[in-house]
Amino acid sequence: MSETRRLEDVSDRNLALELVRVTEAAAIAASRWIGRGKKNEADGAAVEAMRKAFDTVAIQGTVVIGEGEMDEAPMLYIGEKVGCGGPAMDIAVDPLEGTTITAKGGPNAIATVALAEHGNFLHAPDIYMDKIAVGGGLPDHVVALDAPVKENLKNLALAKGVEVSELMVCMLDRERHAEQIAKIREAGARIMLLGDGDVAGVIAASLPGGGVDMYLGSGGAPEGVLAAAALRCTGGQMQGRLMFEDDGQIERARTMGITDPNRVFTLEEMAKGDVMFAATGVTSGAMLNGVRRVGHGAVTHSIVMRSKSGTVRYVEAHHNFAKKDFAL
Ligand code: FBP
Repeated sequence: MSETRRLEDVSDRNLALELVRVTEAAAIAASRWIGRGKKNEADGAAVEAMRKAFDTVAIQGTVVIGEGEMDEAPMLYIGEKVGCGGPAMDIAVDPLEGTTITAKGGPNAIATVALAEHGNFLHAPDIYMDKIAVGGGLPDHVVALDAPVKENLKNLALAKGVEVSELMVCMLDRERHAEQIAKIREAGARIMLLGDGDVAGVIAASLPGGGVDMYLGSGGAPEGVLAAAALRCTGGQMQGRLMFEDDGQIERARTMGITDPNRVFTLEEMAKGDVMFAATGVTSGAMLNGVRRVGHGAVTHSIVMRSKSGTVRYVEAHHNFAKKDFAL
């Protein structure tokens, strides 16, 4: 291996850890708004802190999954350039995944970001995506978006060597999922209903001890791409299909490179190549503890991972506000 290559590896690896600083900054900023009933303020604080934190990350980054179009989002809009120079990377961000949860002081809100080489994330419009995900170590295509719920559960139980009644399915608690919920219960499986936050829900399906065997149902398409980036690192299977509501959305997706509106995207089609992913807990959930403010500082709990190495790290950081300027 050449000297140059080794140095590249070192800087790549540092980059994965740099990402944690970005999500920590967003989580700390959002934490000031936990339980205050102001989701836009919480989101705004996270966005601003994340934007600022990117200024010191050594990449030439382009936001491809972000806060919206340039005319509707002042920061981290799609197409915005971030970073202080380095390799050209595409970035997917959700500075505060779970704005309502944060406002209500509920569980599972995270600040999250993913990085891939240019062109490696699906450019998903901000519409719904139908999703199904399971963890790693299972036979290929053990579940499929188009298969009946009962069949997916039967195949998954068989592959895991358990009864269907032992399976836990995670999904968002939404009226639109009523039919699926009824079918899952009819099949005998259990359901963990989330108020919000399906990125964490999908990841839970892929982590040992996550307490979830399958993620199912519709949520945001941008969140789908972020979840896919995470699953590329943890190992797992996922499929997603965009849910268009009108021709305008189909046309918009076409301009983003999606030509077949009915296409079922695989995990690799949503996030391919070497992917890095980081998330910091804002409020506590099954995967991460939330920000804990202590005296003139805070303790954060993050996950950082990379698809190339498959390493999943949990990072507990003790921040001292007297020594480092955070958006408080
Ligand atoms: P926000 O953080 O933007 O509020 O998103 C929370 C969330 O629950 C996502 O995790 C999920 O993908 C999406 O909203 C689902 O949308 P809806 O609330 O319309 O069902």
